Amino acid sequence: MFLGVDLGTSSVKLLLADGEGRILGQRSTEYPISYPYPHWSEQNPEDWWNGFCRALAALGAAHRLDRVTHMSFSGQMHGLVLLDEEDKVIRPALLWNDGRTADECDYLNGEIGKEKLIAWTGNVALAGFTAPKVLWVRRHEPENFSRAARLMLPKDYIAYRLTGAFATDVSDASGTLFFDVKNRRWSQPMLDVLGIREDQLPKVYESGDIIGSVRAETAAALGLSPDTRVVIGGGDQAMGAIGAGAVHAGAVSVNLGTSGVVFINSGGYVESGEALHSFCNACGAYHLMGVTLSCAGSTKWWAEDVLQTNDYAALFQGLKELPIDSLIYLPYLMGERSPVNDPHAQGILYGLNAAHDRKAVTKAILEGVCFSLYDCVRAARAGGTAIDAARVIGGGSRSEDWVQMLADVMGIPLSLINTSEGGALGALLLCMVAAGNYKDIPAACEALITVTHRFEPNAEKHEAYQKKFALYKRVYEQNCDAIS
Ligand code: XUL
Repeated sequence: MFLGVDLGTSSVKLLLADGEGRILGQRSTEYPISYPYPHWSEQNPEDWWNGFCRALAALGAAHRLDRVTHMSFSGQMHGLVLLDEEDKVIRPALLWNDGRTADECDYLNGEIGKEKLIAWTGNVALAGFTAPKVLWVRRHEPENFSRAARLMLPKDYIAYRLTGAFATDVSDASGTLFFDVKNRRWSQPMLDVLGIREDQLPKVYESGDIIGSVRAETAAALGLSPDTRVVIGGGDQAMGAIGAGAVHAGAVSVNLGTSGVVFINSGGYVESGEALHSFCNACGAYHLMGVTLSCAGSTKWWAEDVLQTNDYAALFQGLKELPIDSLIYLPYLMGERSPVNDPHAQGILYGLNAAHDRKAVTKAILEGVCFSLYDCVRAARAGGTAIDAARVIGGGSRSEDWVQMLADVMGIPLSLINTSEGGALGALLLCMVAAGNYKDIPAACEALITVTHRFEPNAEKHEAYQKKFALYKRVYEQNCDAIS
């Protein structure tokens, strides 16, 4: 059996499969996220580990976990985990959607300079990346910084506790901004800028590599075999793309998760410019990626925090019959990454009138998220990348009306696939390839992933959305200085 672990932001999810990829069981455990100050976002790595152990125990109550031969990870990216000499966590992890590092980004982009950053790492500084977080800790918590013996990413913390191997993979390392994406190794000039040494960083593997086996005493405590081999896996978006079957050059997947992502498998290395991220993928090649920070995060905020409901089906009911009117939503609840790269950006509802009810606002929120993702597609096209179709994954893809709206906004056909397991499935596929059940990742995807539904764009709605998108851009351009 194989075990795929998806270490997400709200929960850790485990997926157990047999040798042919049939899902035998799954469990997930939630953990808290804390926003101690505006723009801060933190989690305690101990909560990830405890959540993982609890989910594993629940899975173990129904299945023989000692039969698991390989396990692997998909992990929330960019988070900074700091351990001291005794491997104790020094402070809560600063997460991917933490926006406190605007000053550090200004320093990196302004004083070090974007050209150098792109030459060294393939990317410019964005508030969510790990490097500005390192600078923030160095500047604001010098004592914590000097105690840090090891710096690591979220999933690598779980892998380290399981195996004792201090390891990461190229796709997750890409999101640190101290990794030389093109050459798939740490960037010495960036380590010098940050004041850290390579011996404080994990050894870098390709995502499908085995980093070791589960430690005997840990295996005994968790009901696993000490022979369970651990495949390092990758960042959640790179693993989600495998779980979507977007493994060939030119393939595109759109993830409607907490954050929304346009993932473009570029094959070879492509310099990103400023609008998109340029990262290693988990199949030995590269990808471009646009990230909107509050995608399903926007609908969750609106439904659960404001309207106090989690009945999304009822809330989304009938939206497609409503006219496309001029109510505009900017989904910048946590600042924004792609393509505006503006940690100060804020959410806006523009154009309200007395006739707008909860349905009208809900529709505007879904549209605003679609526009933000479309903005990423346009940025990729402007850089010379053709995007003619995409597969859609993530929690939001459960709403067929939202996927149709996205097809109408983007003006391209979108497909759904036979699985919504995303990153956890990507992790399972890496295990199967590592075990020799499939010859490579594309062969595993070919065998297990099929398209189930295709949404064609509606030309009339696309035209209406083109006009509305122009307005959406103007609302941002005319307000971004006012709200910075
Ligand atoms: C990707 C990103 C998010 C997080 C959390 O760059 O920041 O996808 O990994 O899901």
